[in-house]
Amino acid sequence: MFHLDEIIQWYREHAADLRRARDEQRELRTRRDLRPALDDLEAEIAYLTVRALRPAVVVELGASHGWSTTWLLRALRDNAGGELHSYDRGSAAPRAVPAELATGRWHFVPGDVRAAAVPDAPGFLLVDAAHTVSFARWYTRTIFPGLRPGAAVAVHDVYHGRRPWPRSEGAVVLSWLRGRGVGHLTASRAADPDTRDRLLGLKHKLHLSAPVHDRARDPMLFFRVP
Ligand SMILES: C[S@@+](CC[C@H](N)C(=O)[O-])C[C@H]1O[C@@H](n2cnc3c(N)ncnc32)[C@H](O)[C@@H]1O
Repeated sequence: MFHLDEIIQWYREHAADLRRARDEQRELRTRRDLRPALDDLEAEIAYLTVRALRPAVVVELGASHGWSTTWLLRALRDNAGGELHSYDRGSAAPRAVPAELATGRWHFVPGDVRAAAVPDAPGFLLVDAAHTVSFARWYTRTIFPGLRPGAAVAVHDVYHGRRPWPRSEGAVVLSWLRGRGVGHLTASRAADPDTRDRLLGLKHKLHLSAPVHDRARDPMLFFRVP
């Protein structure tokens, strides 16, 4: 699973690059309509996971206006390798993602991802698309079984409260994890305020605490495939 100590180590190891990525994302927001859906901790943990695991292939379900997309592309750029495959019903992300980040590393596939070919065995999968039970059943049955041991997964919209709502995407994902004995981590203020506080304290020490933006919620969970 994801361990908090591991994430803390990644923050320390990649602090300088992360500081630059944060400044770049802040600046990009002034020029492009990115409409962030991930909060800063969620985006940073996604960035650091890609930096630490160095996946050759990253898959993103739900790109919207490109906020998570641009964070993932910066991590691949800073790794000097790897590609991102993003899926979305809409076409806003290609208008928002700068060419210097996209060129040579980004594949955007418009339309319903359930009808698309998704690469086998991504090293990191970010899920932030339709927040419904049926969509969660689709990806837990079709995408999750293809993940290799060690792959990392982030799912948004799970922890709006201490527990996911009973009939929700989050409940489907937690049931899938429980059934396989897989642990997970969240920095959601509702579900795990201690983890959130420890990471915020660390960010303060590393001079990473000025917000990139402060408008999103924080329900994401992270896990590693055993
Ligand atoms: C919450 S937004 C994604 C936000 C994005 N990750 C970010 O950080 O800004 C959800 C997106 O999923 C897309 N979506 C929903 N269902 C989908 C499907 N079946 N196939 C592809 N995209 C889908 C929507 O068009 C929407 O843009």
